[in-house]
Amino acid sequence: MTFSRSDFPAGFQFGAATAAYQIEGHSFGKAGRTHWDTFAKGPGNVVRAEDGAIACDHYHRYAEDLDLLRNAGMDAYRFSTSWARVLPEGRGTPNAEGLDYYDRLVDAMLERGLKPFQTLYHWEMPSALADLGGWTNPDVAAWFADFTEIITNRIGDRVHAIATLNEPWCVAYLSHFLGHHAPGLKDIRSASRAMHHVMKAHGAAMTRLRDLGMKNCGIVLNFDHTEPVDDTAEALAATATTDAINNRWFIEAITKGAYPAEALAGFGPHMPENWENDMAEISQPIDWLGVNYYTRHKVSAAPADVWPHAVGHEGPGDKTQMGWEIYPDGLHGFLTRMARDYVDDMPIYVTENGMAWDDKVENGSVFDPVRESFITAHMNATRRAIADGANVQGFFYWSLLDNYEWAFGYEKRFGIVHVDFDTLKRTPKASYHLLKSALAR
Ligand code: NOJ
Repeated sequence: MTFSRSDFPAGFQFGAATAAYQIEGHSFGKAGRTHWDTFAKGPGNVVRAEDGAIACDHYHRYAEDLDLLRNAGMDAYRFSTSWARVLPEGRGTPNAEGLDYYDRLVDAMLERGLKPFQTLYHWEMPSALADLGGWTNPDVAAWFADFTEIITNRIGDRVHAIATLNEPWCVAYLSHFLGHHAPGLKDIRSASRAMHHVMKAHGAAMTRLRDLGMKNCGIVLNFDHTEPVDDTAEALAATATTDAINNRWFIEAITKGAYPAEALAGFGPHMPENWENDMAEISQPIDWLGVNYYTRHKVSAAPADVWPHAVGHEGPGDKTQMGWEIYPDGLHGFLTRMARDYVDDMPIYVTENGMAWDDKVENGSVFDPVRESFITAHMNATRRAIADGANVQGFFYWSLLDNYEWAFGYEKRFGIVHVDFDTLKRTPKASYHLLKSALAR
């Protein structure tokens, strides 16, 4: 099985995705401190306590990296603009070097014929705001809208599409309930507040973007295919709750103006006061939906009597370096489910899909056949979803470069381009060449 550009509708956008903190090198250009810099130094939080200080040094090497995208025949590039690089204190005086950098970056994309797909928040909260409670503080929505305005005034005339947030489930639940990401809390009250404030911030940013006349605004959500381990009532209930928290909370807030009852059963008592009053702004129309998809989980009831009474297990198929099961049908499932249940014919983009492997450079090349089949299978799942009526308009591979994989540091390699983290040398992998030839056909 192969795939080619000509298998997809005319105008379909092929690209790759990255995020600021994972590639730029946060120590460069007078960026402000973020909660990931702090979290990385906490005991046991991140493998080898690695942080994003240098990362891929994209801050200085962006031209070379954008050349790689252009030379592969890509149409678009998904990147994020770091709040703390633009506003080192999160509010107040902007950092001129940071704004200049994003200005250069966007121009460099346009010079290469790449459409800029910007994400406003991809996970690093300025420390000055994290100190005030970050996502648990209701004022975060206004702070985020102000940042949105400042960066949009600088580059909004040239970006093709804007996403408010990347993966609010990770921002809120993974970070405040499961404790795996910054700020590393395991607290249902903080989590409930973050689950709502992240959407309140989405709504406030959307309002600000519309006030500024911006079009093509959306959000990027992550979806995890969930199935019960067996057909017991307990496993079915645990799966329904997990699906509500992971896959329904955010999209239903936007498209229905309501949160799912199965998730409110746990969060409800801890929600911020009068949260219902924010739902109208949260559910204002978006122009496109971004779907990030990686894997499937089987769900069973948790033995301990703690909400959400559910525990996930990896499915039976082959696993990536992350231990995540490779399950392309799940991508087809979410693309068609989004169209059918929520967004109808609104444009959908696969804003992330990819896999990590322990790739090595051998004689100047990187042989990554598992990734080549992974990409082919997920491209074909996307084609099937289009054939089944989902209005999918683009696919961004995660990621262009091997980069800072958050709590896993630099050891998980998702790139189609290998990065040697000692020399920062880039080496396109076989999967890069596969994509390049598919896009030329
Ligand atoms: C989701 C996130 O958006 C990205 O930052 C991360 O590196 C990938 N998934 C892989 O885990």
